[in-house]
Amino acid sequence: MSEKQEIVTIDGPSGVGKSTVSKKIADALGFTYLDTGAMYRAVGLFIHRLGVDLEKENDIPTLLESLELYFIPPAEKGGDVGVLLNGENVSEVIRTPEVAMVASHVSAFPEIRKKLTEMQRILGERGKIVAEGRDMGTVVFPGARYKFFLDADPRERTRRRVVQLREQGVQVDEEELHAMTLERDKNDRERAIAPLKPAEDAVLLDTTSSGVEDVVEKILRIIKKKAGN
Ligand code: DC
Repeated sequence: MSEKQEIVTIDGPSGVGKSTVSKKIADALGFTYLDTGAMYRAVGLFIHRLGVDLEKENDIPTLLESLELYFIPPAEKGGDVGVLLNGENVSEVIRTPEVAMVASHVSAFPEIRKKLTEMQRILGERGKIVAEGRDMGTVVFPGARYKFFLDADPRERTRRRVVQLREQGVQVDEEELHAMTLERDKNDRERAIAPLKPAEDAVLLDTTSSGVEDVVEKILRIIKKKAGN
């Protein structure tokens, strides 16, 4: 049997608390946090700005040749990681609900998934990462030692996103955001390639009525137990 990678994967739908939980787990373990949603958001912004219709464009690999992505550390501790898109700091603009929708749309295209999967595997090559996304445990790092899948009631997820966005100074209408959450869930769960679903060997955690600290504690306990075996 092949050696498992020293990688923690945390998958789940939007608003489930993945980012906050993943950052805390990375901090506690001294691992690097890999925010793959930020990568899809940056590519979504890139494609949107090019004004290209991906349904008609059949040479996506050539489009992607002029894409350069770099992560930059968060502005403050516990903050979101930043992204440089072709040299431009797009850290704030990629966090809007509109860019999230575009990201969900572009993420269904196989050439885009292939490119980002390759980049993510390079970033995870040496292990010691907490990889957060939709397909970390199933597709990108199937050999990860520690896999988790977080879920929560959609209403609660929308409520959490509203609070989070307002804290970041982004004003949103709750009903509109809820409709977007449901649409994004549907896109992400039903796409043909790398759909959002738990890996067979992932631990499932429902966070609807748990606080962040409880979830973090539970995950760390499971990791420690597994590491000792
Ligand atoms: O995690 P997030 O909300 O920042 O992700 C934005 C979108 O990117 C999400 O709706 C689907 C897509 N995504 C993906 O398809 N695969 C990933 N590993 C991460 C994100």
